[in-house]
Amino acid sequence: MNKNTDLKQPIGVFDSGYGGLTILDELIKLMPDYDFIYLGDNARAPYGTRSFDVIYQYTLQAVEKLFSMGCQLVILACNTASAKALRTIQQRDLPRIAPNRRVLGVIRPSVEELGTLSQSKHVGVLGTLGTVRSESYLMEMEKLFPDFRVVQEACPTWVPLVENREYNNEGGRYFIKKHIDAILSKDERLDTLILACTHYPILRNEIQSFLPNHVKLISQGQIVARSLIDYLKRHQEIEILCSKKGQVRFFTTEFISDFEEKAGVFLKRELRAQHINLE
Ligand code: DGL
Repeated sequence: MNKNTDLKQPIGVFDSGYGGLTILDELIKLMPDYDFIYLGDNARAPYGTRSFDVIYQYTLQAVEKLFSMGCQLVILACNTASAKALRTIQQRDLPRIAPNRRVLGVIRPSVEELGTLSQSKHVGVLGTLGTVRSESYLMEMEKLFPDFRVVQEACPTWVPLVENREYNNEGGRYFIKKHIDAILSKDERLDTLILACTHYPILRNEIQSFLPNHVKLISQGQIVARSLIDYLKRHQEIEILCSKKGQVRFFTTEFISDFEEKAGVFLKRELRAQHINLE
């Protein structure tokens, strides 16, 4: 499958759209020597309201594309894809299509962090409909921290608010407050909330403004970056295959100019993107 002959290759970072840039941003900060390829499936975003089968198919196509570009390791920088596709890809597809390559998600490291940060052991998960319905966070928490109480809230309007940059106005704030009030009312002992969608850190200031001071708000970027560093320490066979020229390339399935403009805002830097087809 790998058309590239050079053994050392960039790490692939995949998201349905712009959200994964909040993860990439931290990866670049904490792993500045590594090369990354970012792939945003903007043409088919949002994923959060789609069915299991569709999300799985789209995610597998993206992983195969990143493999064909040489990536030995792909991070699903998307909770919805991690929730709906990661396990099947790891267990069913990888042994068949690329037994020596790896695909990692964002849910496990986030759950580990939730468990260590909360003192009341009452935590909340804010995510897309797909992530919430999959109950992936509930299942992982049950495995690692069975004495915790976890409540969830699906926020289906938040990804469009981010993608269209409509969050910093009265209408946007209305939809943000609505879901914050809803999750807070589900458990009055909540002391930690996780932004379990990689788009949501873009809304961080607005979300924070509706939270009581004692509730901690966690984003995933640093958590995923630290967990990847740890993974590469433990998996030298993958680490030696990562190229390190400090380069990042960007691919989108939608208009290049839109991507360059919006991604540039999210990453606070100018960038050049290329178009890619996944179908
Ligand atoms: N950013 C993605 C996540 O972490 C999903 C956004 C979407 O609905 O496409 O879940």
